[in-house]
Amino acid sequence: MNREDFPMIGKTIYFDNGATTLKSKHVIDSMNRYYTEYTSNIHRGDYEFSLMTNELYDGTRHIVKSFINGKNSKVIFTIGTTESINMIVFGFMKKKLKKGDIVLLNKAEHASNILPWFKLKEEIGIEIDYIPLNKNFEIDIDNIDTNKVKVISIAQVSNVIGDVRDIKKISDICKKNNIYLCVDGAQSVPHMKVDFDGMGMDFLSFSAHKMTGPTGVGCLVVKEELFKEMEPLYLGGGMNLDFYNDGSYELHTDESKFEAGTPPIAEVIGLREACLYLEKIGMDKIHEYEVELKKYLVSKLEKNKRIIFYNKNSNSGILSFNVDGVFAQDVAIYLSKHNICVRAGNHCAKLLDEEIGISNTVRVSLYFYNTKEEIDKLVKVLDNDNILREII
Ligand code: ALA
Repeated sequence: MNREDFPMIGKTIYFDNGATTLKSKHVIDSMNRYYTEYTSNIHRGDYEFSLMTNELYDGTRHIVKSFINGKNSKVIFTIGTTESINMIVFGFMKKKLKKGDIVLLNKAEHASNILPWFKLKEEIGIEIDYIPLNKNFEIDIDNIDTNKVKVISIAQVSNVIGDVRDIKKISDICKKNNIYLCVDGAQSVPHMKVDFDGMGMDFLSFSAHKMTGPTGVGCLVVKEELFKEMEPLYLGGGMNLDFYNDGSYELHTDESKFEAGTPPIAEVIGLREACLYLEKIGMDKIHEYEVELKKYLVSKLEKNKRIIFYNKNSNSGILSFNVDGVFAQDVAIYLSKHNICVRAGNHCAKLLDEEIGISNTVRVSLYFYNTKEEIDKLVKVLDNDNILREII
């Protein structure tokens, strides 16, 4: 659907939407207008353009809040999901947690939701434990041991397995046991209706570039009552109220406290446009369509006996597989020769190989602009006994 909105469509078959999505002309035009018609900094100028830019920039927080239903939240602009998670870990948890406290992760998580916690373990001696994965490599929340657990940090949708985790159920466990819940929404916010308040999240992180928006901007959504306890990681212009000769200083108390320096203004304007655009299509409609496309893809690929599936049944547009006897990266190179873009490798989820028994897979990650015709082309191209011969 909406293929006419994407200038790159038609030039290639793009199935790497988990890595980044194509950009809609609405997003590109909105950023172009900022660059060609009203370039100005925010919160610093008293002239007309600057005031208009202030309004667009700060107004985007309301648009994001409405997009993820975060009435009781604060929206901080970051450079993306990775920075958002680092801000949670080092701007909040470092102060709150102590030696021996347990942070629960799982082995399907992306590096950005593992490494900051490893570093915190190094720094203050927290313990890290993992929610078990079941035989489908999906998390098994009925078997969570909450003893000494202070944080659960989890992607709402895994970027390799594509399972949609039951955040409401996890949040109920968290509430009962006084546990903070941090949700990585990088692969969920672009693809389905996410309900920050209703699902009981404390923190939600996501990136604009995976939802038809620009690179270089993302959000950290924080529950209002936790927001005032957060510390900024960077200090500088735009986030202080005043500072004095004796070395003392006062900081803003709103979101700008966390946005030192000139922020990515054009990118925030692009994010704004992306949210409005996706909202107009309808997030439920997007999710339903992607799940239907994935089912179609699986049903077609199942006829090819060389395909090894890892997540046939997960409820999203992500399919990870291998072609028996062919290294995943070679499959990706072969597909590229046929003008089809997929990702191959470990997808930054480098603990998952312990569970699935293989480090590299081919990943097709779908978005609403993909079609059954594109899938037919992929299936036809993969139906070839001589993939390796073609890439030598
Ligand atoms: N996190 C991105 C992916 O899964 C880059 O491809």
